[in-house]
Amino acid sequence: MKKSKSRAWDIKLFKRVLASSKPHKSLLIYGLILTVLLAVLSPLRPYIVGKLVGEYVFNKDASALLNGTILVLGILLVESVMLIALSYISSDLGQRVVKDLRDRLFEHINRLRLRYFDQHPIGMLVTRSVSDMETIAEIFSQGILVIVGDLLKLSGVLFFMFYMNWELTLVVLIPIPLLIFSSNIFKKAIKKSFQEVRKQVSLLNTFVQEHISGMNIVQIFSREDIEAEKFKKINEKHKKAHIKGIMAYSVFFPVVETLSALSIAILVLYSIRNISYGNVDYVKVTTDMMAFILYVHMLFRPIRMLADRFNTLQMGMVGSARVFALLDNDEFISQQDGLMLNNFNGEIEFKDVHFSYDEINKVLKGVSFKVNPGQTIAVVGPTGAGKTSIINLISRFYEFQSGHITLGGKDIRSIDVSSLRSRIAIVLQDVFLYNASIQDNITLGNKNISTKKIIESAKLVGVHDFIVSLEGGYDFIVKERGGVLSTGQRQLISFLRAFVYNPQVLILDEATSSIDSESEELIQNATKELTKNRTSIIIAHRLSTIKNADIILVMDDGLIVESGTHKELLKIDGKYSKLYHNQFLKQIDSDY
Ligand SMILES: Nc1ncnc2c1ncn2[C@@H]1O[C@H](COP(=O)(O)OP(=O)(O)OP(=O)(O)O)[C@@H](O)[C@H]1O
Ligand SMILES: [Mg+2]
Repeated sequence: MKKSKSRAWDIKLFKRVLASSKPHKSLLIYGLILTVLLAVLSPLRPYIVGKLVGEYVFNKDASALLNGTILVLGILLVESVMLIALSYISSDLGQRVVKDLRDRLFEHINRLRLRYFDQHPIGMLVTRSVSDMETIAEIFSQGILVIVGDLLKLSGVLFFMFYMNWELTLVVLIPIPLLIFSSNIFKKAIKKSFQEVRKQVSLLNTFVQEHISGMNIVQIFSREDIEAEKFKKINEKHKKAHIKGIMAYSVFFPVVETLSALSIAILVLYSIRNISYGNVDYVKVTTDMMAFILYVHMLFRPIRMLADRFNTLQMGMVGSARVFALLDNDEFISQQDGLMLNNFNGEIEFKDVHFSYDEINKVLKGVSFKVNPGQTIAVVGPTGAGKTSIINLISRFYEFQSGHITLGGKDIRSIDVSSLRSRIAIVLQDVFLYNASIQDNITLGNKNISTKKIIESAKLVGVHDFIVSLEGGYDFIVKERGGVLSTGQRQLISFLRAFVYNPQVLILDEATSSIDSESEELIQNATKELTKNRTSIIIAHRLSTIKNADIILVMDDGLIVESGTHKELLKIDGKYSKLYHNQFLKQIDSDY
């Protein structure tokens, strides 16, 4: 990976980038045709101008001169139209290629295992899908076609120059080594500054994203001033990086202008010298001088741009290396034969399941239990005991290392993941709501769920009144991450989301935060409705839920240490009894 980054050219990668434009091959071909035509037309113009001067000015043939001028203007017009078309086509091509790639990348990210997201920051994935993609678009819009065009044009110009007067050409080219030398310095400077800018942009992104996500922490701990200071420093570095890049341009461009002026000066001096010798063809000297002045401009401009263009190309290659590396990552959930989970009765069994997120710290150390169809199981235990991890395994967010998990007697690993997830509804501890209406948050875009069904369900679960009380009711727009709703309210909406889904298995990770008694009652009723007639696994923090459960599993440090009904467990007088007296009884005190 590092190797391909530092290498300027990676043919395989370049081929792959080109291959991604295959569906839009016709655009690429039109672009190439225009590029070639332009490369031929442009150098033709000075040649004609030279001829016009040489043949008609000296012969004082006004009407032929006028016709010739019109011809030159016509060529100029055609060139302009072609340039506009080329610029449009190449941008269009770039955006089309990137749209395809971006769609593919997003689909890909959607299918990655959750473990991937534990190990990679969100900011990185955002950068891959947004700004790295832009650099790929630039490969097409400002990179390859333009570079090919410039190189062809350069060859065309040199061809005409040598054809007209090879001696003069060599003279005019004297400053070129200087130009190549300064281009190289510029290329290096601009590359370094681009990389610095990108680094600073990414730091800025991460900082802003983290601080806005964790704004409550910043404000609770009154860290506004300190964080603002930190931000200023990063922002300052970002500014400096940009300015360095601009400096490189502002030095380089005048240098090129000076060199082209030098070239013209040499051209003029050389021509004057020839004339002063007296034994030359004046017409030819004048013709060549006219044409060559135009050629010098045509020669220097593309060379000036080439350094910049190669840089764009290189940045695009770095961007595509990153995007393709992400696309090549296939950390998906492995599936053996993709069995459909038909006729599933809701039975779930764990047999000696061992699990670790990072393969170092053991989180589940041999967990076994069985939930019969229709039963409600409550899982209790101290924080970090491994309760949520059990859910993560049932929903196949993560892979376990050893043991067996079966659903309706079928090995979980043999079941098609989407079939599995369509039978299970999960209400997570940390409810995530999208920045969309309540209704959309409930249906998640599933058009088969009608508004009527939602309202009926909301009434059954007992949250209809609450939703109607919001401005706009079911159309109330939940802001980013559900920020404007309370924890309890968010949980109620996710209950409804699970309920309209009508799953065979309900998994509920109760929120630990305390909830006002009104919401508490709503949640209690909703839980009752939700667990009716279906297998339910509830990670319980509420005494009411625990008491209503058929079996209570008590977890501690990755193991199930006790199991039984509320009464049975109290009799044993073990961990559960302690938890009950220390924690759950206090809940009753605070509730009443
Ligand atoms: N994504 C993860 N990557 C690595 N380790 C994790 C991850 N999620 C949880 N853990 C670790 O696994 C252990 C069990 O976590 P788990 O979330 O199952 O606890 P829990 O019983 O649900 O706790 P709580 O009651 O606080 O929700 C903890 O030690 C935790 O640090
Ligand atoms: Mg948890």
